[in-house]
Amino acid sequence: MKDGEIISNVRLQGDYFVVKFYAPAISRSARAGQFVHVRIDRGLDRILRRPFSIHDTAPDGTVTVVYKVVGHGTRTLSTLPAGATCDLLGPLGVGFRDVPEEVVPVLVGGGYGAAATYLLTKQLPQRGVFLLGARSAGDVLLTDAYRAANYDVRVATNDGSMGRRGLVTDLLDGVFDEYAGRKLFFYGCGPHPMLMALARILRKRGAAGELSIDHLMCCGVGACFACVVKVKSDTPEGWSYARACTDGPVFDLDDVYVE
Ligand SMILES: Cc1cc2nc3c(=O)[nH]c(=O)nc-3n(C[C@H](O)[C@H](O)[C@H](O)COP(=O)(O)OP(=O)(O)OC[C@H]3O[C@@H](n4cnc5c(N)ncnc54)[C@H](O)[C@@H]3O)c2cc1C
Ligand code: FES
Repeated sequence: MKDGEIISNVRLQGDYFVVKFYAPAISRSARAGQFVHVRIDRGLDRILRRPFSIHDTAPDGTVTVVYKVVGHGTRTLSTLPAGATCDLLGPLGVGFRDVPEEVVPVLVGGGYGAAATYLLTKQLPQRGVFLLGARSAGDVLLTDAYRAANYDVRVATNDGSMGRRGLVTDLLDGVFDEYAGRKLFFYGCGPHPMLMALARILRKRGAAGELSIDHLMCCGVGACFACVVKVKSDTPEGWSYARACTDGPVFDLDDVYVE
């Protein structure tokens, strides 16, 4: 098999697909929260690299990505058959940190963010909680995989078509109540407004955690500054820029600048 070769590329549900690449070097060293930067080729059409969180890895040298078709790159990727090859850079970026075994990991995902935290179920020996927010039932992703990993799975949908009606942050009070007396550590990945709301609530609660702040990226390796995000700092403004691709995408909750 060639490096970057697609082993399978199938529709998961709706606009979401799951692609498995043969990429043994990346598979061996990847950590949850890191990403691959994928150059998607289709004939003469060579598209700029696109970043995707590493959803899963396996001892057979594969790397799995769950992606949503939103534009040219992802649409092209969805047409590539098994046997086609993509050029993969990775694993890139700072991943999620481990926590001691007595700490309960609480994974909070929105949209494809559900894919980015899954490797934590393998990286951490303890079981935890997985909170997922989605627009409606059709966007509820990967809950079976988290259940199979013995995570306590709770879902909120905006339209109430699955789980609780509301936002993923509406599920937090229940977790704080039910796990009172236990140390919790939050891992968040999802749309920016969701992450900002999560950060505000966790700060008020004095909770600890890390957030994966995804941003439009170009080079993916720290050279172009296309991906800068604001982080807290001692400057007069109270913030400075950091590169999501190399300083992140995972940032400590304490460093996240909430506007
Ligand atoms: C670190 C990181 C990890 C990511 N992981 C995943 C993943 O696991 N699964 C997944 O489906 N997507 C993921 N993304 C988003 C993914 O990179 C974009 O959806 C993809 O680049 C869009 O390419 P496109 O050519 O299809 O769309 P384009 O034609 O480039 O854009 C189409 C639409 O998508 C929006 N878009 C483009 N890039 C992003 C982005 N980075 N974040 C949010 N919206 C974007 C554009 O604003 C536009 O509205 C991740 C992004 C980052 C930075
Ligand atoms: S994408 Fe170029 S510096 Fe981050």
